[in-house]
Amino acid sequence: MELPYAEPYRIKVVEPLEKSTRARREQWIKQARYNLFNLRSEQVFIDLLTDSGTGAMSHHQWSEIMLGDESYAGSSSYYKLKEVIGQLLGMPYFVPTHQGRAAENVLFSAIISEGDVVPGNAHFDTTKGHIEFRKAQAIDCTIDEASDTTLHHPFKGNIDLKKLERVFKSCPPGKIPLCIITVTCNTSGGQPVSMQNIRQVSALCRQYGIPVFFDAARFAENAYFIKLREDEYADRSIRDIVLEMFSYVDGATMSSKKDAIVNIGGFLACRNKELFDKISMYCILYEGYLTYGGLAGRDLGAMARGLMEGTEFSYLESRIGQVAYLGRQLKKYGIPCQEPTGGHAVFVDAKMCLAHLPKEEFQAQTLAIELYLEGGVRGVEIGALLADRDPQTRQNRYPRLELLRLAIPRRVYTNNHMDYVAACLANIYERRNSISRGYRIVKEAPIMRHFTIELEPVQESSPGSNQT
Ligand code: F0G
Repeated sequence: MELPYAEPYRIKVVEPLEKSTRARREQWIKQARYNLFNLRSEQVFIDLLTDSGTGAMSHHQWSEIMLGDESYAGSSSYYKLKEVIGQLLGMPYFVPTHQGRAAENVLFSAIISEGDVVPGNAHFDTTKGHIEFRKAQAIDCTIDEASDTTLHHPFKGNIDLKKLERVFKSCPPGKIPLCIITVTCNTSGGQPVSMQNIRQVSALCRQYGIPVFFDAARFAENAYFIKLREDEYADRSIRDIVLEMFSYVDGATMSSKKDAIVNIGGFLACRNKELFDKISMYCILYEGYLTYGGLAGRDLGAMARGLMEGTEFSYLESRIGQVAYLGRQLKKYGIPCQEPTGGHAVFVDAKMCLAHLPKEEFQAQTLAIELYLEGGVRGVEIGALLADRDPQTRQNRYPRLELLRLAIPRRVYTNNHMDYVAACLANIYERRNSISRGYRIVKEAPIMRHFTIELEPVQESSPGSNQT
């Protein structure tokens, strides 16, 4: 008999979880103004809000916490991290930052000005936020296949080279400070970018003299998909693939809360000494001295170790295998999801699930609230609330995809938890036609509104949402 799959780790510490009643959850979500970010964690049974900073560190990582060198300058933990970043990513220069968006802030402060244009593949919301905050524009050049959730394509994170070149040709020289490739592409469903596409984007950028950077939060998961789906990489190691990926870019911003499996941390790496000198100034200004960048020494050591663990094949097989398992369970119940399942999360197609609801009533948010009410499971909306308003017209932007993201923390939940989540969604899917109204906005911030937004249910009798 072929032996079944089993996780390459065992569990030493557990955290108890408490179940609640539907009646209590109805109260809690109302008090939270129908924004799942406002719930207290004890009010959640299974938390799939994010895979960011929510992973379980290994005993080796915890031992690095004890070994942390807390010297202000020149800490040995910093040098441990420097060695790993040099070896693993081939990047000679880096500064630590307290998380991914801090790396974006430091980099963009150094190179983005008002009126600039930054093309890429579906920039993550903080990336877009940091670009738009500087009165620059983020242009999404992802391939069209990414917005059809039913279509099978091995690399739905790919950049459309024609779209990219159109941006290059239509912008005055000097207005494009960089192009960003997000690996894997979170916004389009945790979808990978092929090595071929990375190579081609890099060549096109070079041709036009434009630097290219990775948003590298899930670079290891991307490398795993390259190994599995791009024939010529089948026999290459994950670390070999990672090194080749990074060889095509000028630098990277990193949220280490993802593929470095730490609870906090990030960094900004680059090849160019002149750029490093520029970013150093902003790092000191915003984050901290160059050898700690807003983190404790212990965090740097845990990150160095996490980068190595996160690029082990057996770990990635288990991690992405669990995400795929949840995807399969949902498909068994006929629930439409982004195909194929991505690296860190299953993305449920809320537009298809709640096709009878108008987009103005926020289908993905409605589904997220239903899932919480059904079983205390917290996911997150990746739809019109997240897409925010157009900075010029202030109209709501309705993206092509309305998704409910179920992001799976690393090494935290078992497949029984996944079965529970799938059953909750199956119940909702069965009674989907009885969900007759969605939500309307009561209060919102001018930028990155989804974190703090307040909503209320649209009443049966009301003529519809007043959102424009
Ligand atoms: N880039 C990507 C692709 C991300 O997914 C995130 C964060 C960031 C940058 C910002 O990093 O949170 O460390 O400041 N994503 C989290 C998520 C929040 O839930 O997907 P950060």
